Amino acid sequence: MTSGTVSRTVSGAQKLRGELRVPGDKSITHRALMFNALASGRSRVDGFLDAADTRSTIACLRALGAVIEEEPDGSVTVEGHGRSGMREPSDVLDCGNAGTTMRLLAGVVSGLKGLYVLTGDGSLRRRTMARIVQPLNALGARVNARAAGKFPPLVVEGSQIIGGQKLITDVASAQVKSALLLAGLAADGPTTVVQPAQTRDHTERLLTAMGADIEIQGNALTVTPPNRDLEAVDVSVPGDISTAAGWIIAATVHPDAELLLRGVGVNATRSGIIDVLRSMGADIEFSGEHIVGGEPVADLFVRSAVLHGVEIGSELIPRAIDELPLIALAGACADGETVICDAEELRVKESDRIATTSTVLRAFGAELEERRDGFRIVGGASLRPATVDSASDHRVAMLGAIAGLLVDGDTTVTGADAVSVSYPDFWSDLSRISGV
Ligand code: S3P
Repeated sequence: MTSGTVSRTVSGAQKLRGELRVPGDKSITHRALMFNALASGRSRVDGFLDAADTRSTIACLRALGAVIEEEPDGSVTVEGHGRSGMREPSDVLDCGNAGTTMRLLAGVVSGLKGLYVLTGDGSLRRRTMARIVQPLNALGARVNARAAGKFPPLVVEGSQIIGGQKLITDVASAQVKSALLLAGLAADGPTTVVQPAQTRDHTERLLTAMGADIEIQGNALTVTPPNRDLEAVDVSVPGDISTAAGWIIAATVHPDAELLLRGVGVNATRSGIIDVLRSMGADIEFSGEHIVGGEPVADLFVRSAVLHGVEIGSELIPRAIDELPLIALAGACADGETVICDAEELRVKESDRIATTSTVLRAFGAELEERRDGFRIVGGASLRPATVDSASDHRVAMLGAIAGLLVDGDTTVTGADAVSVSYPDFWSDLSRISGV
């Protein structure tokens, strides 16, 4: 079975050269738009990711009463009227393919007045929501979901969120943590969320910059509800390291490559891929490090290197979760064995990424064992061109295309339009750096 109708052919590249500025970070774009819509005042968000997922967030926020305008310079302005300015929408909120939109918005609306129905595309409607439904309800929210609380659509009846509680979550998920903190903002007392491992911290950073009181002690976060609305803040969104990851892997593995990636967000809760690749032998140089919108940013210069297999698991996994399919590709191109464990969360992404990554890499000739919580990859098999399907998953489509750049001959990616979820210009950037 193939997904979508658009196919793309990628030819193995003779060499990779050039300079790219990858699109804005998806996680930060969702948050900059959503939190400013909940705040009081006008803000400007520049460098934001303009892609299908973040368009879903914009549409939902407009339906909730926020005024969001696109400016001629490519930025957006958000006019928020505070929590009390949000209104019950007259229709369902369509989150498209975006898990972040659905889970974070569920946290926001659970403490508002009114009835909210959150739905999404076929992929999102197969993704588990029990992980937010149960803890939100433990806070006094009234959230229901299809299949006894498991799958979208979600139905949220706004209610008073009850403070003074400590919630221990059993999945290391920034979306779950963020949903609970956002609900906690509307509680009648402090809420503590304890996560099993550190996850991306963009929510804490931005809410704190907007005046929220969030105390962090290791993996425990306590939000004390403010007695006034969040303050609108301008945000410059850094480049998305998850998007840069494809080019970083391509330039590392390709034998004749030098790429400069400008303005990439290198927040330590996201940059696990750099640590993993360096431990495999990659040559990645940072320069021009600075802070943008409260987030660390750098230019990355990446050149060809010889990689060695590696074993990764535990706390590194949440810091590299969206990049693990590409790390598996690096493992297939390395000497020796690469083992990725503790990554069962990959099974509940836009596709079951343990299964879809295995299918794609095997089609290229990689030797790989699919495990419950990851992969064992025997590096060094000689890879050949393939025909692979995206399974309607943007990261799988890009995985197939990046692998295609690294082998001699023509690779076909079906369901190639899936990239529009996070990187609409992916195919033209691919042509630029491979000179075709
Ligand atoms: C995201 C968190 C991660 C990540 C997703 C974006 C976010 O998901 O995989 O692409 O913006 O908070 P989980 O929270 O489910 O780990």
